[in-house]
Amino acid sequence: MPKGKILVTRSLPGKALDRLREAGYQVEVHEGLFLPREDLLKRVEGAIGLIPTVEDRIDAEVMDRAPGLKVIACYSVGVDHVDLEAARERGIRVTHTPGVLTEATADLTLALLLAVARRVVEGAAYARDGLWKAWHPELLLGMDLQGATLGIVGMGRIGQAVAQRAEAFGMKVVYTSRAPKPLPYPHLSLEELLATSDIVSLHTPLTPETHRLMNRERLFAMRPGSILINTARGGLVDTEALVEALKGHLFGAGLDVTDPEPLPPGHPLYTLPNAVITPHIGSAGRRTREHMAEIAVENLLFALEGREPPNPVV
Ligand code: DGY
Repeated sequence: MPKGKILVTRSLPGKALDRLREAGYQVEVHEGLFLPREDLLKRVEGAIGLIPTVEDRIDAEVMDRAPGLKVIACYSVGVDHVDLEAARERGIRVTHTPGVLTEATADLTLALLLAVARRVVEGAAYARDGLWKAWHPELLLGMDLQGATLGIVGMGRIGQAVAQRAEAFGMKVVYTSRAPKPLPYPHLSLEELLATSDIVSLHTPLTPETHRLMNRERLFAMRPGSILINTARGGLVDTEALVEALKGHLFGAGLDVTDPEPLPPGHPLYTLPNAVITPHIGSAGRRTREHMAEIAVENLLFALEGREPPNPVV
């Protein structure tokens, strides 16, 4: 007799789910690329544990479909897709996977930064499309990173890992966060940071307070010819205003996350040569994603056994 049903909303890399089976749980994995809302509502019925991804909105309606639900073990560090208040009210534990994806996300941040600053995607298309006929001193000129100022918005684990990498490229780092930290970089207000940075990189969680943090006014308060990088959450940026800012004010943008997400085919952002967009792959290193699964499972088992999980949110 299984101990109870665990719904996992996507297949996960690695062998972490075997641990749940071995512990006697009935593990139900949704195998599709995405899980439609109606299916989520049906499949969660009877679950005592849930492992959702960032694309599943886990709100009161979902929780009420599974009155026996004890734990939501997020397969992510971000938890903006979960109604934490609703979970708290129902006594459901919520956990996440911090730390393990720091380096992978910082790597992708630098990949986007380099791609935008040195016009790598434009250059690759130029060559592939047969336009490369000669070397020219003014061909595809980009931004020099040595000596450029990188402004980091949100100096948690990922922000700090980005700062370390940026230093290796000879960039000057400044940052803004709720309070100054004992770090060797100047702490500025957001307004000062926007006015002084050649590149602004977002690393703050999405909350009601940070929603559209980069609104029209702030996007246009960035230095003319500067770059915006977002590997945090799409909701931090006003997309419509960003499209406008990219048509002259900004040098470019590197976006691993967007609003809406996924960004639909034909969206104006795709038409801009200075926007480099990747499909939310910040943590997508194989080892990182396997490790995230192990941590999610560990959290889930602890919470189901009535022990304090290693990475609690609620
Ligand atoms: C997270 O963990 O929050 C990322 O966005 C997906 O790995």
